[in-house]
Amino acid sequence: MLLKVNLPQPIRIGPLAVPGNAFLAPMSGVSDLPFRRLCARFGASLVVSEMVAGEAVASGSQEAVLRASGEGLDCHIVQLTGREEGAMAFGVKVAEAAGADVIDINMGCPSRRVTQGYSGSALMRDLDHALRLIDATVAAASVPVTLKMRLGWDENAMNAPELAKRAQDAGIRMVTVHGRTRRQFFKGQANWNAIQTVKDAVSIPVVANGDLTAPEMAAEMLHQSGADAVMIGRGAYGKPWIIGQTAALLATRWPRRSRRSCWRAIARSCARTLRHDPDPLRNGARRPDRQKTSGLVSGRASFRGSGLRPAETGDVGNRPGHCIGNRAAHL
Ligand SMILES: Cc1cc2nc3c(=O)[nH]c(=O)nc-3n(C[C@H](O)[C@H](O)[C@H](O)COP(=O)(O)O)c2cc1C
Repeated sequence: MLLKVNLPQPIRIGPLAVPGNAFLAPMSGVSDLPFRRLCARFGASLVVSEMVAGEAVASGSQEAVLRASGEGLDCHIVQLTGREEGAMAFGVKVAEAAGADVIDINMGCPSRRVTQGYSGSALMRDLDHALRLIDATVAAASVPVTLKMRLGWDENAMNAPELAKRAQDAGIRMVTVHGRTRRQFFKGQANWNAIQTVKDAVSIPVVANGDLTAPEMAAEMLHQSGADAVMIGRGAYGKPWIIGQTAALLATRWPRRSRRSCWRAIARSCARTLRHDPDPLRNGARRPDRQKTSGLVSGRASFRGSGLRPAETGDVGNRPGHCIGNRAAHL
């Protein structure tokens, strides 16, 4: 049965009007430029780059510059990570030179490689330092700056509401919250209810993130979190159409694309990946074909497992077979 909730309102990131309420999460090794373009083409409301280390762009890393590129995107969001104010400011300049419309700051990455360098989610252990980085980034940017975080470092330090409030006061225009602590990494279940504490603390848009794997779950996520939009990460791996479907379902309609046009877009995107990055398997990045289509296999299982039948989804205008995601149900 579909949950009936109020439709999410359109949101703005500072002066920018966002076209819908479902976003692609930044994912290193996955959300490269061709993948982001494909998700956007399938209707994702916003797409965020892989994280780009401020220190890496400052040292002239070619990979970092590649990660910051955004040709062909209507709205280009570059995510920066770092611990030095100067490097963050330099990262902003490189991102803006690459056409960034929005800069996102990463304070959620749990990886030891990042937290040992005292960036990512480690910044949630020292909000004063986090605020200095935010101040430096906002001061350097001529475009809106947003922030992505977790609920806190661990269950004894759930300080996301405090960080969000201080960030808003420092000029941050939107916050995304992954409903886990850093200690949880990716274990257990994301706590969507806890995101409500952030929503209550700020007046800027709040985006809920964590464990959203099917469009039908989005209304429940918004209901539990009180958030204004949802962000999908792993659920989009191999299923680049899922974010557009989610955005469309939240707007009470499904995207209408022929299967042929979906397949053509995927094939073009695979070719684009190879042109974009001559070494697409660098640093553990995912195989481009699997990144874009492996969900056709798992999608069949998850669709069947959802217990939904076309007749049940028909009341929100579902059109089985009209987009690539639904192809999975018929394979
Ligand atoms: C392979 C992978 C790479 C990720 N890279 C980033 C990153 O570069 N920046 C970031 O803020 N989060 C990163 N994340 C976290 C995701 O953006 C997201 O917060 C997390 O996966 C939870 O959302 P999900 O359950 O929808 O996947 C990464 C996650 C995965 C699985």
